Amino acid sequence: MIRLGIFTDPHYSSQVVTCGRRYNSRSLEKIRRAYRYFVAENCDLIVCLGDLIDREKDGETQKLQLCRAAEIIRSCPVPSVCLMGNHDAFAFTEEAFYGILGDACKPADRVLDGKRLLFLDACYFRNGRRYAPGDSDWTDTFYPFEAELQKTVSTSKEDIYVFLHQNLDPHIEKRHRLYNADSVNEILSSHGNVKAVFQGHYHPGARCEYNGIRYITYPAMCERENACFIEII
Ligand SMILES: [Fe+2]
Ligand SMILES: [Fe+2]
Repeated sequence: MIRLGIFTDPHYSSQVVTCGRRYNSRSLEKIRRAYRYFVAENCDLIVCLGDLIDREKDGETQKLQLCRAAEIIRSCPVPSVCLMGNHDAFAFTEEAFYGILGDACKPADRVLDGKRLLFLDACYFRNGRRYAPGDSDWTDTFYPFEAELQKTVSTSKEDIYVFLHQNLDPHIEKRHRLYNADSVNEILSSHGNVKAVFQGHYHPGARCEYNGIRYITYPAMCERENACFIEII
């Protein structure tokens, strides 16, 4: 049994409110509270499903804000994995993002207690180009590594749990979903060993079961109080 502490979409920045309902600056305190809760609940691993930060007016402020969030994450005795969301990838390169958060937060696939945890990165445009600082089209999202995923799913001896920022849940509006969501879902359901998909990005959150897989989308931390969740797998 693994106890996972999960949160998503803090969109932490110096702005008080954006889009009328994202309370960006309050997210730092919410992340701190979530980490205290996860430690008190004896979580084995903490996963941030992306959009940790939101864009600032200049690069220096941007780095400073990520450093503040990183301080909480790095000082926690429980290990964390932080996936990059579109907002993270539109502000930082992968190298710069994990340069501040620490390599230990990189989403490396792993087997824990007989379960395989797969972290998918869909911060790519459908033409295969990776998101880069300055980009902004979040509706164009794509997972370019289908062949590798097919191989992992077909050879895994363990049950599989998938984590990604953007959405595969077929019931969520199309603009939030991967361009190739249908073919990725087909791969995930091909061997009956994928048990759940954990995702962020769609801020209201959602839950469904499709082809025998549970799709859980967590509500955004920037829009809710107490948006930190424990999943036992
Ligand atoms: Fe978001
Ligand atoms: Fe997002």
